[in-house]
Amino acid sequence: KASEAFIRMLPKAELHLHLEGSLEPELMFRLAERNGIQLPYGSVDEVRKAYDFTNLQSFLDIYYQCADVLRTEQDFYDLTWAYLEHCQQDGVVHIEPFFDPQTHTDRGIDIGTVVSGITRALRDGNEQLDISSGLILCFLRHLSEDDAFATLDLAQPYLQHFVGVGLDSSEVGNPPEKFARVFSRCKELGLKRVAHAGEEGPVAYIEGALDILDVQRIDHGVRCTDSEAMMARLAHENIPLTVCPLSNTRLKVYQHMSEHPILTLLERGLCVTVNADDPAFFGGYLLTNYMALVDSLDMSREQAARLAANSLTASFASEEQKALWL
Ligand code: ADE
Ligand code: ZN
Repeated sequence: KASEAFIRMLPKAELHLHLEGSLEPELMFRLAERNGIQLPYGSVDEVRKAYDFTNLQSFLDIYYQCADVLRTEQDFYDLTWAYLEHCQQDGVVHIEPFFDPQTHTDRGIDIGTVVSGITRALRDGNEQLDISSGLILCFLRHLSEDDAFATLDLAQPYLQHFVGVGLDSSEVGNPPEKFARVFSRCKELGLKRVAHAGEEGPVAYIEGALDILDVQRIDHGVRCTDSEAMMARLAHENIPLTVCPLSNTRLKVYQHMSEHPILTLLERGLCVTVNADDPAFFGGYLLTNYMALVDSLDMSREQAARLAANSLTASFASEEQKALWL
């Protein structure tokens, strides 16, 4: 079995992390006070008790509500910096975090405020912690494609700050096809593409993300286990999956970690990676996710090392940079 010290020292990338999902209750209370906002919770303990989810939507309802404390450039800086400190603790050398501009612009926050706070922290993380990064702008799939296009317009002045775009929020009922045109436009703009698919949604959504959105990676993708053909395709085409173990058990995709298919997929030759998704809501950052696999699936050192190497290979870092890590 792999030890925590062994996994910590492996160079790792994190490729599926929502910055809004790294908002710890303690920081949420601090920002609420700083911004004069009354929270619907009395204490940190009360907040953590509310984080008892039954499915993806039950989480998203609370997650969007919590994000309301994020108002100023400094708020977005503090949020991102707190996450970077966890990365340093866990031996993470590269990150490609997500943010959801619509969650903020819909509340009247300027997208420039959001982008500036996040990118200022990422720059400090690069200089002070030696953690490199590429920011990914996610479109909310429960909103319309027109809304996504409007968001892309708002983001136009900041495009040089993004390595790519993603697609998140309520999956079932919002298939990839809904965003075919906006993803095609993003490709023309030279942006990489990723999409949540096959978290709660069917294999057809993974197929749609690949064939219609032309994504380089699938976020989650664990429901590929429903289809031998899809597992074979993902292995053959070397499409990375950014898998999030603690998220999957907290959102009841699996009832227990012992049922999680990540190591089975790894042994079948898929490029699977480990990620935290929304660590403040799901009980832990990257190293905790790796350790859950040790504890429930007896993950070996060799498997941990392969998962860590996959995360670097699957990243959008340059080939020169990857050669230095691997
Ligand atoms: N937004 C934040 N976390 C998410 C997840 N796991 N799935 C879809 N949308 C999300
Ligand atoms: Zn996610």
